[in-house]
Amino acid sequence: MPSRVLSGTRPTGKLHLGNLFGALENYKKLQGEDAFFMIADLHALTTEYGSHSSIADRVTEVVVDYLASGLDPKSCAIFVQSEVHEHAEMAVLLGMITPLGWLERNPTYKDQLRELKERDLQTYGFLGYPVLQAADILLYRAEKVPVGEDQLPHLELAREMVRRFKHLYQTEIFPEPQPILTQTPRVPGLDGRKMSKSYDNCIYLSDPPEVVDKKVRSMVTDPARKKREDKGNPEVCPVYFHHKLYQELPAVERVAKECRQALRGCVECKAEMARSLNEFLEPIRKKREEWLKRPDEIKAILDRGRRRAGQVAGETLEKTMKAMGIRK
Ligand code: TRP
Ligand code: SF4
Repeated sequence: MPSRVLSGTRPTGKLHLGNLFGALENYKKLQGEDAFFMIADLHALTTEYGSHSSIADRVTEVVVDYLASGLDPKSCAIFVQSEVHEHAEMAVLLGMITPLGWLERNPTYKDQLRELKERDLQTYGFLGYPVLQAADILLYRAEKVPVGEDQLPHLELAREMVRRFKHLYQTEIFPEPQPILTQTPRVPGLDGRKMSKSYDNCIYLSDPPEVVDKKVRSMVTDPARKKREDKGNPEVCPVYFHHKLYQELPAVERVAKECRQALRGCVECKAEMARSLNEFLEPIRKKREEWLKRPDEIKAILDRGRRRAGQVAGETLEKTMKAMGIRK
């Protein structure tokens, strides 16, 4: 039996290399199972409710990034969260059994409140972010949830929710969802911190070659290597980390050796990395361009995804309502 897989991405912009290596690689690996990939537009609203830009336009960008980086709509369901009304309903139901303390203690919640200071996130919706996420996962009775490392606290909360539901209603509707991490859950951004949209340190899958070159030139390197003659330590260098993602092992070993012996300068090292990164991104860029010309096909993919998702979500919601005593 294939396992049930669900994951989602907030449509808050284009996808970057951190998304690709942190999670999307595993979407691709798991898409042949019984897999659902969602564009979490309701989750985007929890932080973007005050901006007047269109979340709907960004949904298409994420779908295009999904497709260009190798999701095959024949092997998995791709859908938009708000188009499957069961998500909102399930979130209300789960909200009834969610202790406030779980939400207030959530480390991701506390981090975000601190990081996104410019926005007012003292809202019911934002506090309830993990409840909505647990609803997403439980609705599909998902066993595997491919995510980036930053999502682990949310996943843990979803697991606690499953246990609480089982304890309260003595039913086993939901399996405990397992997070699935990639080999590289943390990809460094231009400044060496984790690549993240909120740090403005990303290389996007859709960045054209000139932009990639320019961004790579601005990357931090081994901070102890001040002069060309200084020997470097590749292990602490974000440029080296990226070499490992796009180059074969012998080339990577050569980079490390030459860096350690000061046989290569950081400028040339970055130029070489940018070249291999651009080669890596080229097929993704091409596919992006092609998909952007086929909006009708994208709409059809999302329609199919919505119908498939709705079937499973409808069944689960019905069972949940019965278990909780509002349906016979
Ligand atoms: N919170 C996730 C993120 O920011 C997106 C998401 C929403 C999600 N619902 C989900 C991820 C369900 C996994 C499962 O990346
Ligand atoms: Fe980093 Fe390359 Fe410079 Fe070494 S030579 S510090 S790996 S950029």
